[in-house]
Amino acid sequence: MFVGIDLGTSAVKLLLMNENGKIEKIVSKEYPLYLPQPEWSEQNPDDWYAGTVAGIKELIQGFETKIKGVAVAGQMHGLVVLDKEDKVIRPAILWNDGRSKVQTDYLNNVIGKDKLSEYTANIAFAGFTAPKILWLKENEPQNFEKINKIMLPKDYIVYKLSGNFTTDYSDASGMLLLDVKSKKWSKEMLSICEINEEMLPKLYESYESVGVLSTDVALELGIKQKVEVAAGASDNAAAAIGTGITAGASCNISLGTSGTMFIPAYEFKADPNNALHSFAHADGYYHLMACMLSAASCNKWWMEDILNTKDYTKEQPNFDKLGFNEVFFLPYLMGERSPHNDTKARAAFIGMSMNTKREDMTQAVMEGVLFGLRDSLEVAKKLGIGFEKTTLCGGGAKSKLWRQMSADIMKLEVDLVETEEGPAYGAAILAGVACREFESVESACKALIKIKEHISVNQEAAKRYDEKYARFAKLYPALKGLFC
Ligand code: XUL
Repeated sequence: MFVGIDLGTSAVKLLLMNENGKIEKIVSKEYPLYLPQPEWSEQNPDDWYAGTVAGIKELIQGFETKIKGVAVAGQMHGLVVLDKEDKVIRPAILWNDGRSKVQTDYLNNVIGKDKLSEYTANIAFAGFTAPKILWLKENEPQNFEKINKIMLPKDYIVYKLSGNFTTDYSDASGMLLLDVKSKKWSKEMLSICEINEEMLPKLYESYESVGVLSTDVALELGIKQKVEVAAGASDNAAAAIGTGITAGASCNISLGTSGTMFIPAYEFKADPNNALHSFAHADGYYHLMACMLSAASCNKWWMEDILNTKDYTKEQPNFDKLGFNEVFFLPYLMGERSPHNDTKARAAFIGMSMNTKREDMTQAVMEGVLFGLRDSLEVAKKLGIGFEKTTLCGGGAKSKLWRQMSADIMKLEVDLVETEEGPAYGAAILAGVACREFESVESACKALIKIKEHISVNQEAAKRYDEKYARFAKLYPALKGLFC
C-alpha cells in the first residue's frame, strides 16, 4: 500500500491507496496560517510535521505491515530555512506572501526579465522563493547569515521522514533558482541570491525514490519493514497526476485555495511574455501553468468571514441565473499572480444597484474567480495553445454550480475524475512508481484514473458569459492605478 500526502495551506491531507489504486482511507489534519502583517503569509514547518506524523499514524492504523511507499506533494514556493543544527530559523514564508515586491521588482527590472528567463525560463513573482531569499538578506540579515539549508515545504517533510535533503524538478521549478529546461540549479541565480549549491537540496524526478523512512520515524509509526520515500512533487503537478493529466493530455484546473490552470507538454516551452509559468512536470516532462492567488478562498472568505455561514449550498444562486448577473467581483484578495503579477491588486465588487441581492454577490464571487482564470486561458490561446476540455479538481470542484460555471465561462468541456483527492492521489501514484508497482507515471494514470462525470458547455450561457468576460477584462486595467 502507498501513502500519498498533500501538504496544503489549510491542512495536510493523507490517503492510503492499495496496489489496485483503490483509496482505503483518507485523513486530514489542520494547522494554523498566520497573516501577521498585510501581504504576509506564514506557517510553522513544525506544525506541518506534527500534523503529518499524527495523520500517518491514524491513516495506517491496522495496515502498518502493508505500507511499501510514501510520497509528499506540497504547496509550492514556500521558503523554509534551517541552520547548522537543522533547526527552522524562522516561520516559512508561503506562496501567497507578497512582502517581496521590492526584491521582485529588482529581479525583473534591474537583473532584467530577459536574463531571468534565460537563467530559469521564468520571471520573478513575489510568491517565488528567490525574491524571498533576497527579502531575508535585506530585512533579516541575522537570519540570512544562519542559513545552512534552503528547502520547500514538502521537502522539509521528506527530510524529517527520511533524513535526505532532496527536492524534485516540479517543485524546484517554482524557486526561480532552477534552470527548468536543463533541470540544473542556475549558477547565475545562486550568485544573485548570494547562496551556494550546498545549501540546496539534491534534485530528483518526482517518481524516484530518495531513500527509506528513517529508523526513528519508522519506529514512531510502528513500521518494521523498509518503506521507500519518493521525491514527491509540487501540489499542482501531483494534482495533475491525480486527475490523469500527464504530457499529451489537455489541461487540469484546480479550484483550491489558489486557482491553477495546468497545461502539460512533452517538450519544454516558455511563455515569451512570462504570464504563464514554465515548470517541469512530475511525469518527467514539462508544463505551463497559470496561478491565481485566491480562488476557492474567495468563496470561503465571502461565505465564512462576510456572510458568517458554512452552508455554502443554501447561498448559491440557481442554474438559470448563469450569465445573467450584473455584479462583477475582482478576485484579488491577496494581490494577483497570473496574469497580472501585481501584489498591490485588490478585490472589488462592481456594478451593484438597489436590486442587487446577496445571492447576486455570491454568484459574482464564483464568476469572478473563473473570469480571473479565463484571463490566463486567453494568454494561453494567444500562445497558440488550444484545448477543448479540462479536468477539474480542488474544493471548488465539489460544487455542481461551479462545475457548470467553469464549463460555460471557459468554454471548455469539463471532466471530473472518480478520485477527488487530486494532489494526495497523485502523490500515492508517485510512491507506487518509486516502488516499481507501476512502470511509469503515465501508465499508472492510464490504468487508474477514471472519469465519473462530464459537463458540457451550455452554449446559451457561454454566449452571455463571453459578453460579460469582455467587460470583466476591462476592470483590472481601469482600476490598477487606484490600488496602492
Ligand atoms: C502555484 C502556487 C499555488 C500553491 C498552493 O504556483 O503558488 O498553487 O502551490 O498550494
